[in-house]
Amino acid sequence: MTDSSRPTTIEDWTRSEEYTAAHLISPPQCVLDAASASVAAGLPDMATSAPEAKFLGLLVRTHKAKRVLEIGTLGGYSGIWMALALPEDGELVTLEFSDHHAAVAQKNFENAGLAHKIKIHVGPAIHSLAKLEPSPPFDIVFIDADSENCLPYFLEGKRLISPGGVILVDNIIRYGQTADPAANDPKTEGVRSLLRHIKTDREVEATVTQTIGGRGFDGFLYATRLT
Ligand SMILES: C[S@@+](CC[C@H](N)C(=O)[O-])C[C@H]1O[C@@H](n2cnc3c(N)ncnc32)[C@H](O)[C@@H]1O
Repeated sequence: MTDSSRPTTIEDWTRSEEYTAAHLISPPQCVLDAASASVAAGLPDMATSAPEAKFLGLLVRTHKAKRVLEIGTLGGYSGIWMALALPEDGELVTLEFSDHHAAVAQKNFENAGLAHKIKIHVGPAIHSLAKLEPSPPFDIVFIDADSENCLPYFLEGKRLISPGGVILVDNIIRYGQTADPAANDPKTEGVRSLLRHIKTDREVEATVTQTIGGRGFDGFLYATRLT
């Protein structure tokens, strides 16, 4: 039995993440190259962690997904993990506001030999989403952009997936701020709006898994469309 009263620190979380990752995760060279190219291009350090990005790839694989939608491309780190898990005729559509981030991601997708499977839409995600059709529907939607808008993104995701499809929303816990009554910034309020909506939305079932590691204390929401 583990001692649940043992206080832990970010050093413990980082060491545990690195320990398990050393056994389970050997990122392909194209993933490592994309990460280095993103740093070299001055992109902010806000890609998903390797364990979470590999989880997304495993989700694509186990779900036998053919069409995946990502909101928030950055340099394409999570996108590459997901595109690698797609079949040759699969498709990742990824939405990015910044021209610079999109250009870096496009180059990373080309260098990874994955550009034929990936389409980047540049501009505010809410505008790009309005132009997308569920034909064929997406199997998985990964929301990882401006948390202020996570409810509209979730509703668009619901429109674009079929029953049984999955919507994953990152950054739900926000270092504990979501549950902290003293926090009222727009991103935290955006997450709370999403949770309030899902509480009464009978067309989805959802849960949140808290995560802890080198990137601190956070968590993601996993929802499936029922009808
Ligand atoms: C957390 S990063 C995405 C990380 C990426 N999914 C990964 O793990 O490699 C968020 C990205 O969303 C983009 N973004 C922010 N607001 C946006 C908006 N309104 N529309 C589209 N993209 C947006 C940012 O420019 C940034 O590149």
